[in-house]
Amino acid sequence: MRASVQTQIEPEPPRGIRLDLPASPAAPASSRRAAAELCVVIPTLNERDNIGPMIERLDAALAGIEWEAIFVDDDSDDGTAERIRAAAAADRRIRGIQRIGRRGLSSACIEGALASAAPFIAVIDADLQHDETLLPTMLAALKAEPLDVVVGSRYAAGGGIEAWSGGRAEVSRVATRLSRLVLKADIADPMSGFFMIRRDAFDGAVRRLSAVGFKILLDLFASSPRPLRFKELPYRFRPRAHGTSKLDTLVAWEYLMLIADKLIGHIVPVRFALFAAVGGVGLLVHLATLWSGLRLAGLDFTAAQAVATVVAMIGNFALNNVFTYRDRRLRGLAFLRGLLTFSAVCGLGAIANVGVASVLFGNRRAWWVAGIAGAVVGSVWNYAVTSVVTWQKGR
Ligand code: GDD
Ligand code: MN
Repeated sequence: MRASVQTQIEPEPPRGIRLDLPASPAAPASSRRAAAELCVVIPTLNERDNIGPMIERLDAALAGIEWEAIFVDDDSDDGTAERIRAAAAADRRIRGIQRIGRRGLSSACIEGALASAAPFIAVIDADLQHDETLLPTMLAALKAEPLDVVVGSRYAAGGGIEAWSGGRAEVSRVATRLSRLVLKADIADPMSGFFMIRRDAFDGAVRRLSAVGFKILLDLFASSPRPLRFKELPYRFRPRAHGTSKLDTLVAWEYLMLIADKLIGHIVPVRFALFAAVGGVGLLVHLATLWSGLRLAGLDFTAAQAVATVVAMIGNFALNNVFTYRDRRLRGLAFLRGLLTFSAVCGLGAIANVGVASVLFGNRRAWWVAGIAGAVVGSVWNYAVTSVVTWQKGR
């Protein structure tokens, strides 16, 4: 009797089993558990009231599956991270990553997946719009069939969208058509934010991902070194219960940046291409202003050229602020400060431009070779320096 009580209190470690890590007194080997089979990654931005219901739904839908959930919150100001931590304190299957000074649905999903060791990774929105009851079917399909990804699809037969405005549906359709530019796969809903992927397929693509914006699935398909074997399962996209959608013009801009990066990013950075395009527009603005100053306002050449330079500088700055750096857009006082640093940097760029061109011209290069070389040196300088000084990252 006594002996048996003692063995219950101090169990003998089973013989023949070697552990890789020495067991610390705080974490006896018996409390150690293997990683979950399925990791559900849930990006959040101001979703406080959806955290509890989301976990309840996962718990119900995933009965019988070894799962874990990783919420990745971009420092929401509504207390989402605190909710997640409270849930994690009560349930080991729940974890949270709180990113400070960072934004982005795609990068959040990537970092969530990287923080897990599970062989299967699902991505689902926190706002209950995706149908979590599909998760077990997705997992079963990945395990039973030769597949890399199972996509929850709004556009496969049987899927759909509840309560979407006509405008939003139209935008979604246009964006889906655009995605065909970079997609090799014939997938009905490449913009879906709801899917499950095998870890090896994710790992194969992760270093090539553009990681900008909202469309992580599209990014995975366009970046994977080998075609991903996929299957679409229809579901109905539900209306939002709490909180608001984060879809705005910035998200649309980021989407276009993703497509452009996949198309030309291996040749030239998309931002530099935009910066150069704005420079081209600036040249036209300059010439038009110069012409108006000379012909319409009757200024002498020096005055007209000075006015044209100022107008083109302000125009270039404003265009870059809206198109090239929409994600770091400056407003109010920051706009004025930005205009000053931009003008100063581009002034130096102009000096470098003229300097390089003059040296080359003096070395008997053709006038246009010297001219282009000067312009290239000036633009690269302007781009490189303003990207750091005028539109700094991460504020
Ligand atoms: N961490 C983080 N960072 N999470 C974000 C961010 C961000 O910058 N932006 C949005 N989220 C979270 C939201 O909190 C939500 O859980 C989820 O990402 C989707 O954001 P919504 O704003 O609700 O997007 P939606 O409903 O318009 O569109 C979603 O569903 C579509 C259909 O599947 C997205 O997943 C789309 O990518 C998808 O096409
Ligand atoms: Mn949503």
